[in-house]
Amino acid sequence: MKKLIVNGAEQLYGEVSSGGAKNAAVAIIPATVLARGRCVLENVPDIHDTELLFSMLRAMGATVEKLSRTSAIIDTSTLTESTVPYELSKHMRASYYFIGSLLGRFGQACVSMPGGCNFGVRPIDQHIKGFELLGAEIRIENGLIYADTEGLQGAHIYFDQVSVGATINVMLAAVKASGMTVLENVAKEPHIVDLANFLNSMGADIRGAGTDVIKIRGVDVLHGTDYSIIPDQIEAGTYMAAVTATGGNVLVQNVIPKHMECITSKLEEMGAKVIVFDDAIRVIRTGKLRWTTVKTSPYPGFPTDMQAQVCVCMSLAKGTSRLTESVYETRFFGYCAELESMGANIKINGKTATVVGVEELYGATVFAHDLRAGAALVIAGLSAQGTTQVEDIHYVERGYEDLIGKLTALGADIRRVED
Ligand code: EPZ
Repeated sequence: MKKLIVNGAEQLYGEVSSGGAKNAAVAIIPATVLARGRCVLENVPDIHDTELLFSMLRAMGATVEKLSRTSAIIDTSTLTESTVPYELSKHMRASYYFIGSLLGRFGQACVSMPGGCNFGVRPIDQHIKGFELLGAEIRIENGLIYADTEGLQGAHIYFDQVSVGATINVMLAAVKASGMTVLENVAKEPHIVDLANFLNSMGADIRGAGTDVIKIRGVDVLHGTDYSIIPDQIEAGTYMAAVTATGGNVLVQNVIPKHMECITSKLEEMGAKVIVFDDAIRVIRTGKLRWTTVKTSPYPGFPTDMQAQVCVCMSLAKGTSRLTESVYETRFFGYCAELESMGANIKINGKTATVVGVEELYGATVFAHDLRAGAALVIAGLSAQGTTQVEDIHYVERGYEDLIGKLTALGADIRRVED
């Protein structure tokens, strides 16, 4: 069992650089299947999830050569398989993006059903709706998703629910469908736009990504490309929340300030001082934090993936804050009980948590039930008096590039131990 030992009450000072966006990379890597050629990817986050996707590509016959910790050449001209090996795909929800890209390349795909996770069932009905409207037949048997088509046809698809995954998956299939596809009620996250830009650099014809309507004119052939993935909005936001909670002065580099506005505004409301540069943001927190209210929502709203991190800041703020979740209503249960064991005062009522600020948090042994919950518990440990043990850190290590190294460089007293 791997765990992190965090000695708290340390303020954070220094500079940290955000890596490539995890949620863009886990879409762009499967998207390379659509080009019968070589793609050079830069600013790929050096995390378990990207390595697992590289393994899936290799298992299907593609070659993946790491040029550095954060760059790779992917050649899918030798790809022969349209089945993603179950023993690899079952470990990762984003494996399902291979359905869209393999349908576009081969007209067929077989991928494991995505596992649930600790904050809800996370259905894929909107993915299936989009594939079927494009002319694919979807079958789910023995935990596997089978997709087949005689030929994808452009369609007008109105998603019943704004879904990052469904928007991405259907876009991956539609770029090779014949004719025009119109997607409405789509997700507008930065990683949606990044994927569209990547696909267009391969020769796709996608317009409107980042707005409510995406129009895709299908093309016959996509070619290899060189592409650099955008910085990770949530990783950068996590470090901004960390210094807001602990106090200190940190420059977060390699960010796109526009993507951070929803997070920056809330941290400023709580009393952090934020200075925005072209590709970096400095966060300074000296005085006591003040309460605020947050309602998570799809981009450009406050991201659900920052819910847990901002809750830690609220726990230490003067006054009573309210945090309302609109995407995954059970997400609170991934970390609130753990924070309460550290002295936080949180009352959950349906989709809203009421957080009464306390003077300080105290170290405890806590369990990271998901990626962002784990990051939040590390932040809580850094802010708390005493020592915190964060167990089950495999989630955190899957999604955060060199978390320990980056926090240590900011003055954190944190180390990883294995039982
Ligand atoms: C992506 O998950 C992210 N994961 C999540 O980040 C993020 O929390 C989420 O988007 C929202 O921003 C990746 O990008 C790999 P959704 P996804 O489809 O695509 C419902 C992290 O920490 N829904 O936008 O699965 C769903 O149940 C992870 O990096 C349907 O009902 O999220 C949810 O309530 C955690 N039917 C809502 O839509 C569907 O077919 C939004 O989910 C699909 C989704």
